[in-house]
Amino acid sequence: MRVAIIGQGYVGLTIAAFAAAHHDVVGFDMNAAVVERLNKGISHIEGVDSVLLKKWVDAGKFRATTNAADIADAEVVVIAVPTPLDKNRKPDLTFIESACKTIGENLKRAALIINESTSFPGTVRGVIKPTIEKYSKVKLDHEYAVSPERVDPGRIDWNQKNTPRLYAGLTPAATAGVREFYSTFCDNLVAVSSPEVAEAAKLFENTFRQVNIALVNEFAQITNALGISVHETLDAANTKPYGFMRFNPSAGVGGHCIPVDPSYLAHVAAGVGVPATFIERANEVNLEMPKYVVARVAKENGGSLKGKRVQVIGVAYKPNVADTRETPAEHVIEELERVGAVISWHDPVVGSWYGKSSSLLGDVEGTAAEIAIVVTLHGVINAKAVVASAPYVFDTTGKLSGVPGL
Ligand SMILES: NC(=O)c1ccc[n+]([C@@H]2O[C@H](COP(=O)([O-])OP(=O)(O)OC[C@H]3O[C@@H](n4cnc5c(N)ncnc54)[C@H](O)[C@@H]3O)[C@@H](O)[C@H]2O)c1
Repeated sequence: MRVAIIGQGYVGLTIAAFAAAHHDVVGFDMNAAVVERLNKGISHIEGVDSVLLKKWVDAGKFRATTNAADIADAEVVVIAVPTPLDKNRKPDLTFIESACKTIGENLKRAALIINESTSFPGTVRGVIKPTIEKYSKVKLDHEYAVSPERVDPGRIDWNQKNTPRLYAGLTPAATAGVREFYSTFCDNLVAVSSPEVAEAAKLFENTFRQVNIALVNEFAQITNALGISVHETLDAANTKPYGFMRFNPSAGVGGHCIPVDPSYLAHVAAGVGVPATFIERANEVNLEMPKYVVARVAKENGGSLKGKRVQVIGVAYKPNVADTRETPAEHVIEELERVGAVISWHDPVVGSWYGKSSSLLGDVEGTAAEIAIVVTLHGVINAKAVVASAPYVFDTTGKLSGVPGL
């Protein structure tokens, strides 16, 4: 099949790398620098191997482009663009709308259009289809479907091949088409009765994580006040073979999905008059964690961090990825700034962030750190060196022994 994938980020490039083994793939992205590197076979995404990408480029199975006309004869078009929140924490569908404009204006044949971007129930039916039709100069009988992406960047045990994939079309023909496409590189396809069910399931999966992370973050505050270890207590609870699923406390939630997707669900819930109270409260608890962490560190260091040299270790939102989107480390740093600490950050995986480079471990503006706060512990970071990097080390990850933490 001739496949066009709109958006060549974490999701779009991952799909492209799997699909190119079976199809001719064009990856459309507005970012010229990304496109240029992809056409040299250089991947910018963890989990997408540059050697494999180069193989597909050299074989003519994959090419990236900024020229929207290159999608004209695609038989399958996959939408994989961002779906963030706006400044009022409401769904921002401007990237989806601009992808639909590109598709509507440039596709010259009837195609199967599949949305992989995460959005609220009704997006394929009520936003994507009408927007593409609005921008199509000629009437083409496109089919529309959704197959929400479940990729977990950096993870290798669960990938496109073995992770069950939900799908549903607006018509039986769309459902059959989406199955035919994904069955070429995914072993486990799960049909649901409507796009709205697939869209809602994706949002609920991430809401389940968001709410449980908030619950364990609140629990960590309770156990600390009780003078018992949260991790020992979780270990104990986790011996129950059924009815319990362990989540670990942290400095908050990050990434493009967990802090964002539940608010898409809350948005549709409000639209149908049902208050999404768990989502709202979970957001509050998770967003307050950086303040809680800094307050704990201050309390254990004489009550004030004013003028103290503090290094934040690990600014990616999770281990072993360079992704800093929505990272709680940013809020930890903001709070440290607010209380007057002198701050640096160390993250060898991220390397550069907001135009600044990672400091050496244990270094704050050329002087030894007095305090380290570990937000994310990458595999390449030496745990013993972290523990030795400052006289006081606070661990939010639960992975370091012999130091205070959550
Ligand atoms: N990253 C994840 O782990 C993950 C997992 C599951 C679902 N999702 C969802 O998948 C979607 C994409 O996320 P992502 O992480 O791949 O985003 P990303 O930011 O990594 O990549 C998006 C890409 O789309 C490009 N883009 C934006 N607007 C465009 C347009 N109109 N035309 C062409 N290209 C455009 C950007 O330049 C960027 O390269 C989001 O809805 C996200 O919620 C992400």
